[in-house]
Amino acid sequence: MADAVLTAERVAKAFGAHKVLSDVRFRIGTDEIVGLLGPNGSGKSTLLNIVSGFSHSDAGEILFLGNSIAGMPSHKIARQGLVRTFQLPSMPHRMTVREVLCAGSRDGAGLLDAFSGKGGDDAEADELIEQFALAPVAHLPASSLSGGQKKLLSIAVALRTQPKLLCLDEPTAGVHPQLRGRMVELLKAFSKRGVAMLVVEHDMHFIRELCGRCIVLDRGEIIADCAPRELTKNERVVEAYLGKSVARQKVSA
Ligand SMILES: Nc1ncnc2c1ncn2[C@@H]1O[C@H](COP(=O)(O)OP(=O)(O)O)[C@@H](O)[C@H]1O
Ligand SMILES: [Mg+2]
Repeated sequence: MADAVLTAERVAKAFGAHKVLSDVRFRIGTDEIVGLLGPNGSGKSTLLNIVSGFSHSDAGEILFLGNSIAGMPSHKIARQGLVRTFQLPSMPHRMTVREVLCAGSRDGAGLLDAFSGKGGDDAEADELIEQFALAPVAHLPASSLSGGQKKLLSIAVALRTQPKLLCLDEPTAGVHPQLRGRMVELLKAFSKRGVAMLVVEHDMHFIRELCGRCIVLDRGEIIADCAPRELTKNERVVEAYLGKSVARQKVSA
C-alpha cells in the first residue's frame, strides 16, 4: 500500500454535551480517492474542518505526510499541501473568475498581478477555466456565479495550489449532471498526478465512479471502510444511510 498522506487516530469532538465524532480512525494513501459518506448530521463536515484546521478535535491525532497537524491553523496546513473546499463556497465580490484563479498560483505571483490589475498571461489559469467549463463566465465577478459554478471554481482554485491532499465537501451539489461526469474524469487525472482526495458526497453514482474506497460515518462513528461496491452488502450502512430500497436496486442493477 502507498504511504499515508493522512492518518487520523482516535479523533473525538463534542459541541457541549453533543458528541459529534467518537474514536474516528482511518488512513488515506497518497494514491487514493476516498469517499466520506453518511447521513446529514453524521459529522462529515466537522471531520473535514478538523483535518483542515478550521476546527480542532478534543482528542486524538491527525498526521499529514507523517507529521502531526492537530491544532495547527488552517493557513499553515494549506501551505503544507492539505487544501479543502466548502459545502457553500463564498467568492470575492471585486474579482473576476479569472482573477481569482490567477491569484491562486503556487508562487503567489498571480496574486500580485491580480491586485495590481495586470492579470497578464496565465496559461495554467486558462487551462483550468477550460477544464472546469468556466470560460463563458471567466470575466464575470466570482460572487455572481451560480452555486454550482462557485463549486467548480473553488475546486479549480484548490487544485491550482498543487495540493498533496484535496478535501472536497459535497463537490457536485448544484453542479449540472452533465458536468459531474467531466468532474470525475478531471479529478481522476489530478489523482494520477499525485493529488490524494477525501470527498464528502451524497451522489452514489459519482462516488462509485470516482472513489476506490469509502468511509461511512453514522452519528460520529465509522461504521464502514470498504470499496463502494461493498456498501450495499453492509447492513449497518444500508440501515443508517442507503435505505433498503436503494440497496435492493443497486444489488439487482
Ligand atoms: N459549530 C457547531 N456548534 C454546535 N454543533 C455543531 C457545530 N457544527 C456542527 N454541529 C453539529 O454536529 C453534528 C454534525 O454536523 P456536520 O459535521 O455538519 O454533519 P454533516 O456534514 O455530516 O451533515 C450536527 O448535529 C451539527 O448540528
Ligand atoms: Mg456537511
